[in-house]
Amino acid sequence: MKKIRIIGNYITQFGELWDRSLESLFEEATFGALNSVLGSKFAKKMVRHEYGTLLPKSRFLPTEIEAVFVANMAGGSFANQEHLNAVVAQMLPHRPPAFRVEAACASGSIALELAELALQSGKYKTVLVVGAEKMTDVSAQTTTKILSGASEYQKEYGSTFPALYALLAQAHMQAFGTSREQLSVVASQNHTHAVSNTKAQFQKEIPAEVVSKSAVIAEPLRLLDCSPVSDGASAVILTTKKSKVFMHKPVIEAVGHAQDTINLAERESLLELLATKLAAQQAYQTAGITPQDIVYAEVHDCFTIAQILATEDLGFFKKGDGGSAIEKGDTTIGGKVIINPSGGLKACGHPVGATGVKQVAFLAELLQSQQLTQKKDKVYALAHNVGGSGATAVVHIVSQTKYMEQS
Ligand code: COA
Repeated sequence: MKKIRIIGNYITQFGELWDRSLESLFEEATFGALNSVLGSKFAKKMVRHEYGTLLPKSRFLPTEIEAVFVANMAGGSFANQEHLNAVVAQMLPHRPPAFRVEAACASGSIALELAELALQSGKYKTVLVVGAEKMTDVSAQTTTKILSGASEYQKEYGSTFPALYALLAQAHMQAFGTSREQLSVVASQNHTHAVSNTKAQFQKEIPAEVVSKSAVIAEPLRLLDCSPVSDGASAVILTTKKSKVFMHKPVIEAVGHAQDTINLAERESLLELLATKLAAQQAYQTAGITPQDIVYAEVHDCFTIAQILATEDLGFFKKGDGGSAIEKGDTTIGGKVIINPSGGLKACGHPVGATGVKQVAFLAELLQSQQLTQKKDKVYALAHNVGGSGATAVVHIVSQTKYMEQS
């Protein structure tokens, strides 16, 4: 296996971005990632690109991108633009081959996985993965209808995503005694984490009591249990090149990917997301680690119950213990594993096509910023991205070695 490093990463502001187009979000993320490749320390000479972005002239040029993987769920429905591979390719002067990937809310991580496979094949050495979604230009009803296209719409007719996850919450509450308060702590904790994330849609504390009292959306889920409707984009640049200047960059150690039925009614159990469990097992096995080795995890908390399920299915806590673990503080700074340091989908926002890329971009940034203060020589982080109500699940494991590797 070739070593794949994340040499560039960028996340746009997430939120209700009325003054932005889908194209401009893709553009900002693309050039933001290019600009980040060698960091300001190396990028001494900057030039202004035709799109208005500053680029490091001497070291890393856009022409080094050999292929582009574009993640998006519903650009056609939200923004009347389906031809997104071409939209992004034309932003680069050499118009590299570009692929558009769709897998509902897991579009970003599947685009990453395809990029990794292309790199492993040897066809390309350096690629860009960029994901974006512009969701707020249509009405709330239209958004809900578009998103429901990721469920088995004909069989689950009328069931919105909040309603489907509400069923999972009810099952978990009945089987394990998971409480309304525990759901609220998930939301509240993620909002606390988002306070230091300047890109987050909601950069503010929300006490658990406020979550419990917010408007009911689908019993038992309330407004503040739900990830919001968001605009945003994110990008990473991956390479298999063995240049010395990239030796301190984070490594993608493993990816696991599994599928399940789209329709909840056809699942054997509603107490777990089987695809998450299987994807996680694959990823841990490939990386040669266990859940106990993970220090940070960005998990797919599209609804608070989804985070509780994820922390169990990823092996951080025993089945049924996810709610109490969060309540005890095991998932925040000082706990066993820091879940959603970015604020997660709940507080950072969930522009669906961007989320899977954002999780990995955020972890890459976090790992690099912490590398000199960390106690361990090598730190592992995990990204968990889900499509729909668990039909698709992808788990990435990323690592950061403390000092520049000798190789
Ligand atoms: N966290 C914090 N505040 C939130 C919030 C959130 N997740 N979602 C909305 N708000 C705030 C808004 O900022 C707004 O505040 P304001 O009145 O001060 O401006 C208020 O709550 C109402 O928001 P609004 O966007 O009008 O709510 P809505 O009723 O249109 O939508 C949901 C609420 C929950 C239905 C919608 O966010 C939703 O559908 N979320 C799920 C998206 C989804 O399914 N994604 C795919 C997952 S698989």
